Amino acid sequence: MSEFKQLVFSGVQPTGNLHLGNYLGALQKFVALQDSHDCIYCVVDLHSLTATLVHDDLKEQTRSIAAAFLACGLDPEKNIIFNQSRVPQHAELAWVFNCVARIGWMNRMTQFKDKAGKDRENASLGLLAYPSLMAADILVYRATHVPVGDDQKQHLELTRDIAQKFNNDFSHRIAELGYGVEMQVGEEAVNGFFPLTEPLIEGSATRVMSLRDGTKKMSKSDPSDLSRINLTDDADTIVRKIRKAKTDPAPLPGDIEGFVGRPEADNLVGIYAALAGISREKVIAEFGGKQFSEFKPALAELAVETLAPINAEMRRISADLGYVDGVLREGGERARQRAEETMKKVYEIVGLLAD
Ligand code: TYM
Repeated sequence: MSEFKQLVFSGVQPTGNLHLGNYLGALQKFVALQDSHDCIYCVVDLHSLTATLVHDDLKEQTRSIAAAFLACGLDPEKNIIFNQSRVPQHAELAWVFNCVARIGWMNRMTQFKDKAGKDRENASLGLLAYPSLMAADILVYRATHVPVGDDQKQHLELTRDIAQKFNNDFSHRIAELGYGVEMQVGEEAVNGFFPLTEPLIEGSATRVMSLRDGTKKMSKSDPSDLSRINLTDDADTIVRKIRKAKTDPAPLPGDIEGFVGRPEADNLVGIYAALAGISREKVIAEFGGKQFSEFKPALAELAVETLAPINAEMRRISADLGYVDGVLREGGERARQRAEETMKKVYEIVGLLAD
């Protein structure tokens, strides 16, 4: 009996500028995984339609996220890089999953509750079904690992629930057709068509917080540009934003317990650790007891050192639209071949007359 081949998949929405949270929570991890794994990275443009149906610049945004992927060091030969709408099998599998997943599961998603606000009846059906499309993105490749920030954890749990329900609901058909793959779930060896995908949420910056309020997530939609560092910010802007970042009057703590009740200090130290590729403990060993006036310039220098080359590379790559479009087109073709294979089997499993 074969086992699932390890495969990494992740996606980024083309809505607004990428920021340091996206970089540390996702892109930096994508780059680290490309040497050890087969990886597929996707600009999830269909997801953006859940925010606004008409975007004046969706094509531009899609290209700019792709340029950011490349500027961070993702190799389009080694990895498959493409935009979601080129591969219609994502939406096809999402439909099947809409018929597997329960409305109650979708209603419980905190992201849906946040985005729909008080008037849920008036939210689009697409916003409610968003996690079903996300599960399809991952499972149409039968991906086993998904690097994401902490905010996507609940969606990844739902992806596992959908996979598990599909495997159970269709277990006889899967066995009959010989499409089952063995996997270990806890102590148990089970057989299924879709893997129970593992989220990869590791390191010291899985949830980068706003520079203006350490209790709020750094986000593309925060009205204050000072709350985030954008990947498009120049060196002066980065230095200024870190200088203005909210802190408290006490010096940096000497141990991890000292961060309790000090979310801004915790956030800045987490950012430093992630940028330097070291543990928080190591950062504290160097800066514990020192004032923010000493720590902030060191953090700014490190941020500029990491982000300036990415920024320059993004501008260089973005100037060559033909190149970016070519990468997405070619990646789309490679992705589509794999997705077609899965969908042929899914249609057979659910019993559609589609060949
Ligand atoms: P999106 O586009 O909002 O964010 C892209 C990635 O950045 C991470 N991230 C953060 N990490 C740390 N701190 C933050 N403040 C922060 N803000 C964002 C996100 O966790 C994410 O990894 N639903 C997804 C896109 C998606 C997807 C997928 C991801 C669609 N299909 C399949 C993985 C697999 C989203 O909206 O991410």
